[in-house]
Amino acid sequence: MGEALNGLKRSHYAGDLREAHINQEVTLMGWVQKRRNLGSLIFVDLRDRTGICQVVFDTAVSEAAFEKANAIRNEYVIAITGKVMKRQSVNPNLPTGQIEIFAEELKILCESEVPPIHVDDNDEANERLRLKYRYLDLRKPKMQNYLFTRHRIASAARRFFDSHGFVDVETPMLTKPTPEGARDYLVPSRVNPNKFYALPQSPQLFKQLLMVSGFDRYYQITKCFRDEDLRADRQPEFTQIDVEMSFVDEEDVRAINEELLKYIFKEVADVDVALPLNKLTYHEAMTRYGSDKPDVRFGFELKHLNDMFVDTEFKVFADTLASNGDIRGININGYADRYSRKDIGKLEDFIKTYGAKGLAWIKFSGDEMQSSINKFLNEAHVAEIKARFNAGDNDLILIVADKPSVVFDSLGALRCEVAKQLGILDPKDYKFLWVTDFPLFEYDEEENRYVAKHHPFTSPKDEDVDKLESDPANCRAKAYDIVLNGYEIGGGSIRIHNSSVQERMFKALGFTEEEAIEKFGFFIDAFKYGAPPHGGIAYGLDRVVMLVTGTDNIRDVIAFPKTQDAKCLLTNAPSVAEEKQLGELYLELTPYEKGNA
Ligand code: AMO
Ligand code: AMP
Repeated sequence: MGEALNGLKRSHYAGDLREAHINQEVTLMGWVQKRRNLGSLIFVDLRDRTGICQVVFDTAVSEAAFEKANAIRNEYVIAITGKVMKRQSVNPNLPTGQIEIFAEELKILCESEVPPIHVDDNDEANERLRLKYRYLDLRKPKMQNYLFTRHRIASAARRFFDSHGFVDVETPMLTKPTPEGARDYLVPSRVNPNKFYALPQSPQLFKQLLMVSGFDRYYQITKCFRDEDLRADRQPEFTQIDVEMSFVDEEDVRAINEELLKYIFKEVADVDVALPLNKLTYHEAMTRYGSDKPDVRFGFELKHLNDMFVDTEFKVFADTLASNGDIRGININGYADRYSRKDIGKLEDFIKTYGAKGLAWIKFSGDEMQSSINKFLNEAHVAEIKARFNAGDNDLILIVADKPSVVFDSLGALRCEVAKQLGILDPKDYKFLWVTDFPLFEYDEEENRYVAKHHPFTSPKDEDVDKLESDPANCRAKAYDIVLNGYEIGGGSIRIHNSSVQERMFKALGFTEEEAIEKFGFFIDAFKYGAPPHGGIAYGLDRVVMLVTGTDNIRDVIAFPKTQDAKCLLTNAPSVAEEKQLGELYLELTPYEKGNA
């Protein structure tokens, strides 16, 4: 059965009805959340995107509607007309809980088979099933709320940009590779056989060209594509709020972006963000938190301990020092009693996933001390440890010795893991942080050369330009990330606008002149004709929405997301291409065997 509307109009949304509507005639349209048959009465919870309202079918009001209501089941689409009445049994948990509607007419607009998942926030279907039936999953109020919040964030951003002179310009999706460091998604061109477009990893090159064209202030909320290994906060296609400005330096870009963040958080979450936001240099962030995206809602800061152990008899520490490694530790102050030896063993397993080899610990309770490296600690060590960590009763010191990158990664992750376990993280406590002065390069051990830490168009600090050749490892960039509660929500930089510096940058990255011209010739050329100093930033919209809604799963805030292995379970993409299509594209496939991928 599927009746037509026949001119029937909806008068209200279900979730909007209140006591003020009592005695009004209303027409609602939506889905059946639940039906209860109590013999002479049938109760139906009708759901639309605003909420749920109770509808009562009573033979005394309409025999015909009552008869029809007998047939309806969960997820049927119905229209009802009736009178709003004071509810007999008030439901204080429901915004519409003071009223109910006595139905005079019922139309069954569409039937539903028994749905494979339960349309309810407490549904416990596994995520793969939910993704396969995403359109049903998206009926859940919680999921709808994620997307409404996403919309409100995007629309607040647009309002802000519109009122600050930014112009929204679309940039191409079929383009040349953009150098953001991930793999490109390639698209074959039928009319240019054997040639490929790349989907943009970001609009980076185009937004810079728009500055060369004189647009001065640009923004775009746009899809980006990166074929990278996925994690909980990454998707192969995701959305950036992308921004670029001319005649600005780092402070100018940061200042207007602080205003943007303040505006969005006020509008969407009613949170007052205090400005200016805190700043840490990359170096400080790493040494204090072991991460370039530190969660600064809590302490447990790293301390450097190398100097304390120069004479140590503990072989692990001595070997670490001999091989230029690091010994660092954190103090879980005030929580030692929450960690038994077994629990500390689990923390050790945790840091091993970051490549660390072990976790030394020292526990203070009252005047007593216990430690996994007790026999290697003399009085001077203990006194120094107490001083350096300001340690006292009920403190737990956790120490890792290894090569510096492993020490930072493992302790950086450990402090967050412990904070999570202790339940001391308030998701509504929004701690923003700029991380500045990033290194311009990082060494790629696989490629055996320096690569751009951000991208090749980021400007070195003025005082570090000569280090491009003499000391690339210590050349700092005019680059900044914006971090929120341990997530990098955005990143940007002041760009190189001077062709000769750009050439030196390409050289430092190991590109020959021919390679640079082949890859970015059009871009290098553009800078020969008058490029303003410029810079910008891009936010990961999906991550911002995650943080505002408090979910830790990026798929929750994307209407039709991909799985960790980049599949869309709803449409079954990616799928095989037909011979004919491949032929038109002059493509042949190499048979795939496990192991040759
Ligand atoms: P960057 O590569 O740092 O900078 O990207 C900007 C922001 O985009 C988000 N992000 C992602 N979100 C979800 N899934 C992904 N796979 C993913 N990758 C990145 C992050 C990140 O901070 N063109 C430069 C910006 C600029 O310099 O203006 C750029 O793309 O939140
Ligand atoms: P062992 O003498 O091997 O029993 O180690 C003593 C303590 O040092 C144990 O708690 C180990 O987990 C810890 N340990 C081992 N390797 C390291 C390391 N690389 N960094 C920090 N602690 C370590």
